Amino acid sequence: NHHSPLSSALAEEENMGNVKKQLSKLFAVSLREMLPPQLNAEPLVASCVPKFGDYQCNNAMSLFSKLKGTNSNYQNPLAVGQAIQKNLPFSEMIESSSVIKPGFVNVFLSNKWMAEYIQKMLVNGIESWAPKLSVKRAVVDFSSPNIAKELHVGHLRSTIIGDSLARMLEFSNVEVLRRNHVGDWGTQFGMLIEFLFEKFPNIEDVNESAIGDLQAFYKESKKRFDIDSEFKERAQQAVVRLQGGEPKYRHAWKQICDISRREFDMVYQRLRVQLEEKGESFYNPYIPGVLEALTQQRLVEESEGASVIFIEGYDVPLIVVKSDGGYNYASTDLAALWYRLNEEKAEWIIYVTDAGQNQHFEMVFKAAKLAGWLPSADNLYPKVTHVGFGVLKGEDGKRFRTRSTEVVRLVDLLDEAKKRSKTALVERGKGEEWTEDELEQTAEAIGYGAVKYADLKNNRMTDYIFNFDQMLNDKGNTAVYLLYAHARICSIIRKSGRDIEELKNTAKLVLDHPDERFLALHLLRFSETVEEACINLLPSAICEYLYSLSEYFTKFYSNCQVVGSTEETSRLLLCEATALVMRKCFFLLGIVPVYKI
Ligand code: ARG
Repeated sequence: NHHSPLSSALAEEENMGNVKKQLSKLFAVSLREMLPPQLNAEPLVASCVPKFGDYQCNNAMSLFSKLKGTNSNYQNPLAVGQAIQKNLPFSEMIESSSVIKPGFVNVFLSNKWMAEYIQKMLVNGIESWAPKLSVKRAVVDFSSPNIAKELHVGHLRSTIIGDSLARMLEFSNVEVLRRNHVGDWGTQFGMLIEFLFEKFPNIEDVNESAIGDLQAFYKESKKRFDIDSEFKERAQQAVVRLQGGEPKYRHAWKQICDISRREFDMVYQRLRVQLEEKGESFYNPYIPGVLEALTQQRLVEESEGASVIFIEGYDVPLIVVKSDGGYNYASTDLAALWYRLNEEKAEWIIYVTDAGQNQHFEMVFKAAKLAGWLPSADNLYPKVTHVGFGVLKGEDGKRFRTRSTEVVRLVDLLDEAKKRSKTALVERGKGEEWTEDELEQTAEAIGYGAVKYADLKNNRMTDYIFNFDQMLNDKGNTAVYLLYAHARICSIIRKSGRDIEELKNTAKLVLDHPDERFLALHLLRFSETVEEACINLLPSAICEYLYSLSEYFTKFYSNCQVVGSTEETSRLLLCEATALVMRKCFFLLGIVPVYKI
């Protein structure tokens, strides 16, 4: 049996970057010591309000009621907390601990330990703080637009969110198969192919510029399809001939796909997003076998001429063969899931689409559970997750569209973001200061970064309003503000005239000032933040962390003189650690950092 039990998605092996997990280990020892043999508990460790500590253990309250049944003589949760504290093993990590009502055990980390911990990261690199998830291989199915139909802003969200999730998992030592499940198969191709033949009797004449805008081409052919029954019939036959593999039809299909593909690639290149296309057509040959197996298991039934899978809790069954004999979105997704589990051996399969497709995925996942492809419990692997997201809205609160009510073209959106950020840079006098190349690159990093960050910072389930002015504001929680903050830190280090690489090994980091310590503590939370963001598939957690980091830095920088102070070298190390962590956050969000501003 390939289903492996896992209490959490975390690896048992040493995970040196994750401070919360290291503390959990200490508390686990203490809980084992103080609990009677018949009871055990996972340590519950969380960060804490600064007044009481850096982290706290929250087990005492729930343990108290469990312990009552074992005729132990704890009077109240506070006494349980005190026992947890008493049994905590010695560790250099911990400076002090305390117990407060009703039973929280609070710990302060040792300043010396914290400083050494950060310095070690400076020497060994930020990779030494990378989480280690227990999942070895994951599929992230994202972007996945439909050929010829439309590449709309929903696909932009999927591309941005999916890329960030893939980056987060890759950083956490997971092998990620980045899958572009493009809609390159289906009835629309019959219509497109027939229309292509009609417009270009000589197939050699077909090329990108001759076809022009593929979306317009689609619309034109759809119009024809809707009004001309003779054309409609030919189109329907064309689907059959294409699916039967007739060379002329395959060739035309491929030409249409190639044109779309080149258009998608332009967007991916700009956004620096890597994807490997395995479109719907790829899984087509696997469908009959998969459905055959499901039929053997008596999961597939006939209903009103179609083949369906009935799933408890839904009014409608999952249709897997339409009444006309054709396959559909669901049959393809079942075959794709089968392939990912059995051929690609993925342990976690993640689908990034708008929340509107929720029910489709729920039903496909339930069918897979019925078939025994997936364990029924959600904490077992292999596992599937639908990452849904809300719709993008215009400033009027309606679905995001351009004035002409056409769907917004992604390239235009990115062009606009870049243009605006370039204008802002020129207004700041960078036109004279910088080379044209620098200006272009910075404008691009800021413009595209702003579009990505505005998307990622929201909890992905909420709809969000697309607003250029807001996302390109250099104040507040925006990419522009954060990129500037990073560039400023780099310039502090540059202007000190010191060799920071050398300082990492020769200078010593000391955390004496309270604002140095707050900043350092937040740096230490990087690894647990990324790990939890991976487990919950929430890039917004990284954004939140990044924004707070810049706030802690600002506070530190306004209260602690860096260059010219007696603590200069130590503080420069703290600046460098902040810049490194910020850059890794940018990287996880798919944002390109800038170094000068
Ligand atoms: N092509 C689909 C759409 O545009 C998204 C595909 C998502 N992936 C999947 N395996 N169904 O809505």
